[in-house]
Amino acid sequence: MLKGKIAVITGGSRGIGAAIAVKFASLGADIALIYSGNSKAAEEVCQAALGYGVRAEAFQCDVADFEASKAAVAEIKNRFGKIDVLVNNAGITRDGLIAMMKEADFDEVISVNLKGAFNMIKHCTPLFIKAKYGRIINISSVSGLMGNAGQANYSASKAGLIGLTKAVAKELAARNVTCNAIAPGFIQTDMTKSFGEDNPLVAAIPLKRMGRPEEVAEAAAFLAMSDYITGEVIRVDGGLAM
Ligand code: NAI
Repeated sequence: MLKGKIAVITGGSRGIGAAIAVKFASLGADIALIYSGNSKAAEEVCQAALGYGVRAEAFQCDVADFEASKAAVAEIKNRFGKIDVLVNNAGITRDGLIAMMKEADFDEVISVNLKGAFNMIKHCTPLFIKAKYGRIINISSVSGLMGNAGQANYSASKAGLIGLTKAVAKELAARNVTCNAIAPGFIQTDMTKSFGEDNPLVAAIPLKRMGRPEEVAEAAAFLAMSDYITGEVIRVDGGLAM
């Protein structure tokens, strides 16, 4: 159970982040949802969380912005009194072959996916150290494990997240702060709406179907509740990357 815990989830207004927020709420956690632009969608996720009798509030923040993420963490601390769990889920794609990829597409993906996680971890760490408690979960990708043609920027950002996860896990272990990553495969969300179950890539998945956001949320809940797993990467990919 996560009763009494305060969980911050970035990119929580839809997809995997929304599923994590609702799952955590169902386990009793209070939810601080960080969204980038769609306040209506964020409010809807908060409403779903409130249905479980927990607190849930939405905070607008571009996680790629160092100062904005600092302010968001401070505001959440003010509103909720503490932060126990941080899920770095916000992510974007700007796909293209390396020969065609624009510098801006590389920079933007690294800024949101990797630097965004750094920003949030950096600002939450003093709170975690003071409390001698923290659970950090970074949403990476099988693209970060295997590399994916057409996603040099995204694969680099997601592989970077795994290095970040392991370094932070080693640094903060003595403070009872764990840091783990989840590497989802193909999950049915807006990010993958361009391909359906008939996509040839789905045939390469041993379990022969795309995953559901709720299936990633289950792994996130497991890691949020675990006290002795740190520096781990859990694939939720139907066997794709084994
Ligand atoms: P999505 O596109 O539905 O949701 C991404 C969320 O991140 C959105 O709520 C968006 O507003 C938010 N976001 C984007 N930039 C932001 C910023 N600068 N600041 C704050 N929030 C921002 O995507 P989905 O599928 O739910 O992805 C969630 C995470 O899971 C991402 O990190 C993605 O890379 C990862 N992932 C997704 C897979 C999939 O198949 N859908 C596979 C592997 C990893």
